[in-house]
This record gives sequence, C-alpha cells and structure tokens, in this order.
Amino acid sequence: MAKHGYTKYIALLFCSCLLTCGGCMITNEDEKSPSPVQQDSPDPNKEILVTEDTFVCLEKMHPVRGFFVGNLLDKLDDTVAAAMQPEGAPYPPGSIVQLIPTEVMIKHFKGWSTKTNDWEFFELDVSDEGSKIKVRGTTRVKNKFGGSCVACHQKAKPQWDFICEEGHGCDPLPIPDFLIRSVQRNDPRCN
Ligand code: HEC
Repeated sequence: MAKHGYTKYIALLFCSCLLTCGGCMITNEDEKSPSPVQQDSPDPNKEILVTEDTFVCLEKMHPVRGFFVGNLLDKLDDTVAAAMQPEGAPYPPGSIVQLIPTEVMIKHFKGWSTKTNDWEFFELDVSDEGSKIKVRGTTRVKNKFGGSCVACHQKAKPQWDFICEEGHGCDPLPIPDFLIRSVQRNDPRCN
C-alpha cells in the first residue's frame, strides 16, 4: 500500500508540473511589466467580487464534459447553456470555469477587459485549508512555469469564447487525459 501511495504522489507531482509548464512561452508587451495583478484598467463599476472563499472543491461545481463550471451571479443555467451550445456561445457574466484545482477563469461584465473577452485568469494555491490566490488579472497572468494563460486561451476560435477544450484551436496540453482526471479527483479542498 505504501508503495502504491508513493507512486501516486509522484504521478501527481509529474502531472501538475506538466499541466502548468505547457510549453507556452509567448511574450508580449504586457508581460514586460513586473506587476502580476490587474491590468487593462478594468472598470471598477463592472467588478464581480471575487475572494478566496469564491473557490470551492471541484466536486461542488457542475461537470461539463471534462471540466467544471459555476456562476457567481446565480445564473448557473445560463453558464451551462453556453457550455452546451454545439457551435459555442459567449459565457454569461459570473461564469467560473475550471479544468484543474489551481487554474480558474471568471467572466466579468461586458467591457471589463476587451483583450481577454472579459475573462479574469487566476492561479491558486490549494490545500485542505482552502484556496489562496497567487496571481489574478487579465493579460499578464502566467502559471508558475511562465506559461501565459491568455496567450494559449486566445487561440480558441472566436465562437468558443477563450474556452480551449479539445479541437477549439488552442495548442493541446501535452499530457494525457487520465492524468488530468487524476488531478481533478485529488482536489485537496474536497477532504
Ligand atoms: C499551453 C497552453 C495553456 C496555458 C499556458 C494555459 N492553458 Fe488553460 N487550457 C489549455 C488547454 C489546451 C485546455 C483544454 C484541455 C482539455 O480540455 O483537455 C485548457 C483548459 C483550461 C480551463 C478549462 C476550460 C477550457 O478552456 O477548456 C481553464 C479554466 C483554464 N485552462 C485556465 C487556465 C489558466 C487560469 C491559465 C494560466 C494560469 C492557463 N489555463 C494556462 C491551454 C493552456
């Protein structure tokens, strides 16, 4: 048993490294600034309040194919409807989307950030004590290995509203589905 547990730990470590490496090192003007938080001058009147308590264990979110959604404005049906559109649709404000516990996209009101289709990107630290926001913002947010969220996600064809999944036009994540599923099932916040 102990050996099995150890192997699983290594697999998870390997997996989270690959997930966050991604090989996406595209640089742009915005990334020259040192500040990791907020850019694009989002309009504060269009802010949807997000705190560390906003984020929950993936099992408490709504599963859609391989990822999870919610809505911070109590419009879950609208978010699910957008996610289920066969030809894609804009996600409504308040939508929260996750593939793995540590990376999140939240949709703000129209006009909040034109460069990211009003999405805000988050990189979290998660543990059995909950979620800590490591980085949040629009065009400058990177994962801990330097992969720019927006550089990858903006490659999704316009009708998919920055949602990559598979076949939407993004470069694929260089890891097999079973490892993603394993990271999803081992969200420490669910304990
Ligand atoms: C190397 C490119 C790349 C980078 C960098 C990247 N992603 Fe992704 N992301 C993807 C791909 C591809 C998928 C779809 C994977 C799948 O469904 O198998 C995805 C899936 C997601 C999803 C689930 C919804 C969707 O688009 O399918 C969220 C949420 C997400 N990523 C957030 C982030 C955040 C936040 C960051 C930065 C901290 C980030 N990603 C960095 C490529 C990337």
